[in-house]
Amino acid sequence: MKEKILIIGACGQIGVELTLALRKIYGGENVIASDIRDEHPLLAGTGPYTTLNANDADNTRAIVKKEGITQIYLLAALLSATGEKDPKLCWDLNMGSLRQVLDLAVEMKDERKIKIFWPSSIAVFGATTPRQNTPQLTVMEPTTMYGVTKYAGELLCQYYNRRYGTDVRSVRYPGLISWKSVPGGGTTDYAVDIYIQALKAGKYECFLSENTYLPMMYMDDAIRATIELMQAPVENLKTHMAFNLSAMSFSPKEVYESIKKIISNFEITYAPDHRQAIADSWPASIDDSTARAEWNWKPKFDLEKMTTAMLENLKK
Ligand code: SER
Repeated sequence: MKEKILIIGACGQIGVELTLALRKIYGGENVIASDIRDEHPLLAGTGPYTTLNANDADNTRAIVKKEGITQIYLLAALLSATGEKDPKLCWDLNMGSLRQVLDLAVEMKDERKIKIFWPSSIAVFGATTPRQNTPQLTVMEPTTMYGVTKYAGELLCQYYNRRYGTDVRSVRYPGLISWKSVPGGGTTDYAVDIYIQALKAGKYECFLSENTYLPMMYMDDAIRATIELMQAPVENLKTHMAFNLSAMSFSPKEVYESIKKIISNFEITYAPDHRQAIADSWPASIDDSTARAEWNWKPKFDLEKMTTAMLENLKK
């Protein structure tokens, strides 16, 4: 069957690169990018773009019907740090948009099957979760509103799958590191800023302490994971909560040292702020053996490889 894809939140950190990657596979005209913001410059001219508020159920339904959409990637969300500034908006946006897309898939079930991708996060875990090699199935008591919406969202996805047979797939992304589009409002954002500031200013003040280990992933791996999960045969997928996903784990000090190997006069200082408590409640490393077993997930980038790629690409 010919795929017709709608991306909601296409101008964010994941959205830009995912839209470009999906357009390469399925053809530019078959991937409709949408966001509440203006079109991202990197998307311009690569395929159709429309303005869409992720919480606007009527407009979403109209696009899905008119365009014959078969896959929806719902990426619009408020992240961990921004979510703490406005917990109500975080809940309303993150849960409202998911609920209406799931309902739309149920509503259209007899007409057309719609496959959904919705991202979860390491933020579903909390201080009572085992921090090292956090298992797929474990204690989950998130402390941020962002984490609460991701955990509740996972449960909602699993519920819709069991109750209505909705094909909705999800991963718990670690901190994502990219150079084409930057993150906004996350706790792991330092790991992107540090590369940008290393090149721009030769120094960086980090908002997390030097030995704060967090799970991280280069965007190329994250995009490949997303597409491989969406292409996996449905009968292989036994897990209907989001999959743990892992590539590397490092501290600010370690990423600093990997950059210093290339930019020898790079300097770092540490000034932990309110985001430190969020980072301290998250896992340091993740066990992703379920993803490896069910859909053959395997990362390609480690810290050294990513540092080389980030600095080379940002320089351009
Ligand atoms: N990168 C996200 C954040 O920091 C975690 O999913 O909020």
